[in-house]
Amino acid sequence: MERKIITTGDGSKTIQISDWDEQYHSKHGAVQEAYHVFIKHGLSLFFGKNIHILEIGFGTGLNALITRIESKKNPTEITYRGVEAYPVSPEELEQLNYISELKAEEFRSDFEKMHTAPWENDVRISENFLLKKEQKFFADIDDENVFDLVYFDAFGARVQPELWTEDIFSKMYCAMKKDGVLVTYAAKGSVRRAMLAVGFEVERLPGPPGKREMLRAKK
Ligand SMILES: C[S@@+](CC[C@H](N)C(=O)[O-])C[C@H]1O[C@@H](n2cnc3c(N)ncnc32)[C@H](O)[C@@H]1O
Repeated sequence: MERKIITTGDGSKTIQISDWDEQYHSKHGAVQEAYHVFIKHGLSLFFGKNIHILEIGFGTGLNALITRIESKKNPTEITYRGVEAYPVSPEELEQLNYISELKAEEFRSDFEKMHTAPWENDVRISENFLLKKEQKFFADIDDENVFDLVYFDAFGARVQPELWTEDIFSKMYCAMKKDGVLVTYAAKGSVRRAMLAVGFEVERLPGPPGKREMLRAKK
């Protein structure tokens, strides 16, 4: 499927799948959305701790980058697993502008390391950030009691309904530790009901600009 780079409302770029009219991030602002959903309502609950994060859809690495930045500012030990079936190409990466938009020159080499890190290996990105990227399908995740925090960042249910089902959320539930938290930009009733059905407690929270609500689930 054809992927192209577009500029979102806050000036940061993202990738668009033209055939699906679907983006890797919100058209209203990629950086803005990522900070709101995954940092403000996710990572910040764990500042000062030692945690394992699972990202559903490593994609451009934006969530990993902002996690590295914020975990340095608010000292937190991160072990990060990024699962992705269709990695972004070096040509696509070159066109993204996250380091300049975030004024994060200090983290440029960490971001490069994240992308050049070999798949399926533990790679130390910095003193507080260990990364393992796994190239596989979400349906093949079979960890048990490992993760404190899940960034659930799959494409929307409109285009990939099979990723927002009880089957997938029960895999997430199983992969998480007790009291673990899953955050997602999605707010659909059917998604919330699938989360509840597998045992999560679910909260509706204010969404990022352009979106009324988002969901946060707790094991
Ligand atoms: C919304 S994008 C993720 C954006 C990413 N978190 C970022 O910050 O760039 C969804 C990602 O899921 C990946 N993907 C789609 N279907 C998948 C599947 N069944 N298994 C694994 N990865 C999948 C896509 O290639 C894409 O990178």
